[in-house]
Amino acid sequence: MALKDDFLFIFSCMLAISLSSSILGRPATFLEDFGITWSDSHIKQIDGGRAIQLILDQNSGCGFASKRKYLFGHISMKIKLISGDSAGTVTAFYMNSDTNTIRDELDFEFLGNRTGQPYTVQTNIYTHGKGDREQRVNLWFDPAADFHTYTIMWNHHHIVFYVDEVPIRVYKNNEAINILYPKLQPMGVYSTLWEADDWATRGGLEKIDWSKAPFLAYYKDFDIEGCAVPGPTSCASNPRNWWEGTAYHALNAKEARRYRWVRLNHMIYDYCTDKSRYPVPPRECLAGI
Ligand SMILES: *[C@@H]1O[C@H](CO)[C@@H](O)[C@H](O)[C@H]1NC(C)=O
Repeated sequence: MALKDDFLFIFSCMLAISLSSSILGRPATFLEDFGITWSDSHIKQIDGGRAIQLILDQNSGCGFASKRKYLFGHISMKIKLISGDSAGTVTAFYMNSDTNTIRDELDFEFLGNRTGQPYTVQTNIYTHGKGDREQRVNLWFDPAADFHTYTIMWNHHHIVFYVDEVPIRVYKNNEAINILYPKLQPMGVYSTLWEADDWATRGGLEKIDWSKAPFLAYYKDFDIEGCAVPGPTSCASNPRNWWEGTAYHALNAKEARRYRWVRLNHMIYDYCTDKSRYPVPPRECLAGI
């Protein structure tokens, strides 16, 4: 009898542990946090919904969006970009407040290239409807050979775009000197795959080669850790959220070193130094990177 009780007790503990880890355990399945927004037929769930395949062909591209919006947080996913000839395609992963003329938006855009030529990652930041803050980095690895992690970290102190553990862009909160910082509008998480051969590759010189279609990108390990809205109103200002912790108020020494390395060796465009667009650099550029 006692043996049986012990067994039942242990068994129910194990059940409870496995249940709770399936609820709290990250990463989530695609449908837990996301839905398809554009062309059902061009997004396929694989691996029991833990990964998806995005398809671009001559009929359509596709897109998906988070079910909820978030106010601050750490959002990441693993992406394997289109392999081979991806010139003229754009795969995007971004956050957007969806508020038109006053929108806040944080963009990762992956610009395809001819076989053997480097993929370019363009980032942009909109604050209260104002964008035009493009930066471009050529990736130092082949992002189609394997999955890599792309992360947007957004807290009260800064916004950091990471490729794996490497920061490729930082936008600091410089409200103290009256530079706009996104902090009032919750943002959804979005992704799209589409054709943009009028501008994407070498400024539109390289056209998409439809004989190589369908173009396929893969996503997995969807990980959103943030304050969902609607949700507890105290969440977005709670200093105990890990992404608000002191360790995340600025880059640490190792990250700062890697960020310098990217800027020195892999950055191919920075709006801050584009004199033809901005004879006088925008103020956030002078406020330090
Ligand atoms: C594509 O490759 C060319 C040649 O290496 C390079 O100049 C360019 O930055 C790459 N990326 C895009 C999106 O054109």
